[in-house]
Amino acid sequence: MNTVVISLGGSVLVPDIGNNNIKQYRDVLRSLKDTCRIYVVVGGGGEARRYIGAARGLAIDEGTADEIGILVTRLNATLLMRALSKDCYPQIPESYNDALIAGESGKIVIMGGVTPAQTTDAVAAVLAERAGADLLINATSVDGIYTADPRKDATAKKIPFLTPDELIAIVQTGRMDAGANNVIDLVAAKIIQRSRVPMVVLDGREPESLLTLMQTKEINGSLVSYTPGPTGF
Ligand code: UTP
Repeated sequence: MNTVVISLGGSVLVPDIGNNNIKQYRDVLRSLKDTCRIYVVVGGGGEARRYIGAARGLAIDEGTADEIGILVTRLNATLLMRALSKDCYPQIPESYNDALIAGESGKIVIMGGVTPAQTTDAVAAVLAERAGADLLINATSVDGIYTADPRKDATAKKIPFLTPDELIAIVQTGRMDAGANNVIDLVAAKIIQRSRVPMVVLDGREPESLLTLMQTKEINGSLVSYTPGPTGF
């Protein structure tokens, strides 16, 4: 059975706590649970940023602010975990080892952040490496990786296929440092480079796009891999 790790941005799962996509993602994950082993790493989104902002306003150090951000990722993860009920491992793993042990249950594993000074994209990339995943999916608030920030540059073009080396070149030039272009951080990109686990970046604002990818293997976003698509998962 294939193993898939999904980095699910907090901003797409819970764009707003009163108007969230948890039910939609619950249903998508349920319909995929018998087809592959699934790990989901949930992000903190706007709520994490607000808490981190409040911490900075109180002169709390950055590492502690990161820990507060991690708590918010686990809060979002807990909502999704409880919504999935018996289809999900009933605890949020706080380490990679615990996540891998939870994965042995055969149930969907949901977790948040792990350690300061990184993002949940990096957590998902390490987990994909350690789980020997066939695919890493980054469900985020853009529909792929672009040559420039599409909100600022009308000539920006989506890149349907790129290698991890090309991804790192883009991240390092700072062209992915803000807004819609900020789809992945450098740490995550370097882990993808060394692990060689293929990654698909897709539009997580539309939960159905995850289902479409898994059912049709059709990539509407961007594929980061050393082997051009189809992804082979
Ligand atoms: P996210 O991964 O959610 O960052 O972690 P994000 O860029 O806001 O992602 P989206 O919007 O959900 O897609 C939120 C914050 O939690 C801390 C960091 O401060 C991060 O910015 N964090 C998270 C860690 O320090 N370590 C982790 O392992 C995860």
